[in-house]
Amino acid sequence: MKVLVTGASGFLGSHLCEYFQNCGFDVVGVSRKRGFLKDISGVKWLKCDLLEPESLKSLSLFDFDVVVHNAGLVSAAHPDYFWEVNVRVTLNLVHMLESSDFKGRLFHISSLAASGPGVKREEDECRPITSYGKSKLVGEEVVKSSSLDWVVVRPPVIFGERDRGLYVLYSLFKKGIYPRWSVERCVSVVYARNVAAFIRFLLDEDLSREVFFLKDKDLTWSEMAHLFKKVYGKRVMVPVFVPEFVLALFQRGFDFAGCVAKKGGILSGDKILELRQKQWIAVDDKAKSRGFRPPFEFETAFERTINWYRLSGWL
Ligand SMILES: NC(=O)c1ccc[n+]([C@@H]2O[C@H](COP(=O)([O-])OP(=O)(O)OC[C@H]3O[C@@H](n4cnc5c(N)ncnc54)[C@H](OP(=O)(O)O)[C@@H]3O)[C@@H](O)[C@H]2O)c1
Repeated sequence: MKVLVTGASGFLGSHLCEYFQNCGFDVVGVSRKRGFLKDISGVKWLKCDLLEPESLKSLSLFDFDVVVHNAGLVSAAHPDYFWEVNVRVTLNLVHMLESSDFKGRLFHISSLAASGPGVKREEDECRPITSYGKSKLVGEEVVKSSSLDWVVVRPPVIFGERDRGLYVLYSLFKKGIYPRWSVERCVSVVYARNVAAFIRFLLDEDLSREVFFLKDKDLTWSEMAHLFKKVYGKRVMVPVFVPEFVLALFQRGFDFAGCVAKKGGILSGDKILELRQKQWIAVDDKAKSRGFRPPFEFETAFERTINWYRLSGWL
């Protein structure tokens, strides 16, 4: 099985490459930098900026059985950056695949953000609220309107080794504090390797042109903080109350800074708008009814993750 993974240098991309490599597949990863792929042997890497599709020309795309389009932008101060990567890059790849006579299956990594906050099923109307979510939904539409054999996977918050997104939160937990709001937030989470395992599982399924949610668990931030406390061996974990109006003020401030500076960053008005939502819950009945069972159980996966951060000197 020959598999192409875009965004191979990043958090999820490196896990996808590693997992498929361990399945015995012939894996080619593309990205602009080598990033985390440096640590994964056996995966072929092609330097490629998908904003310049010419750079994919050296690959015989029709040769691949599977393409996992994972490249994307998760956080940026200015909305234009989301459109550039999550939409234009997807358009370029889809055009390249269509014009290369690719006969395999395209797995498109979207996001729960494309559906919007609340409790969501695949068939619910998509109501994204953030610029990121809106750009991921348009990216999905590009894929869905193509002539390709596609499957869209919409993960919720992904955790795992090498993730920089939740690292900020773990750093707070390490100090023995966690943010507490007037109403608890609850989010669905999934382990990066379970996302890879799900795609591997779907390769054997008879399906086409379908959208899937998947998750390991729904949990509140205080539950995550207390699990961290147990795994990391902290003695105390103190909630720090953050009033809702403070989040609203921060959101405005970051939005303004983003308009002026146009720089990317982990924290942005868009991210704070995400944080302000009470629920980001994915209902994964469809994946379950197909018979998918995540190979990594949640608590074990969380423990592996925190131990990795510790051993790598991140925490
Ligand atoms: N992290 C989450 O919690 C989460 C949740 C749901 C969905 N997702 C989705 O999962 C995917 C991966 O997210 P992640 O958290 O792993 O992000 P990440 O670590 O920032 O990785 C993003 C990848 O995209 C690549 N990329 C960006 N622009 C590119 C371009 N012009 N040409 C080629 N490659 C480009 C980056 O590579 P270079 O910079 O080296 O080019 C990098 O490898 C995204 O599509 C995201 O929307 C993530």
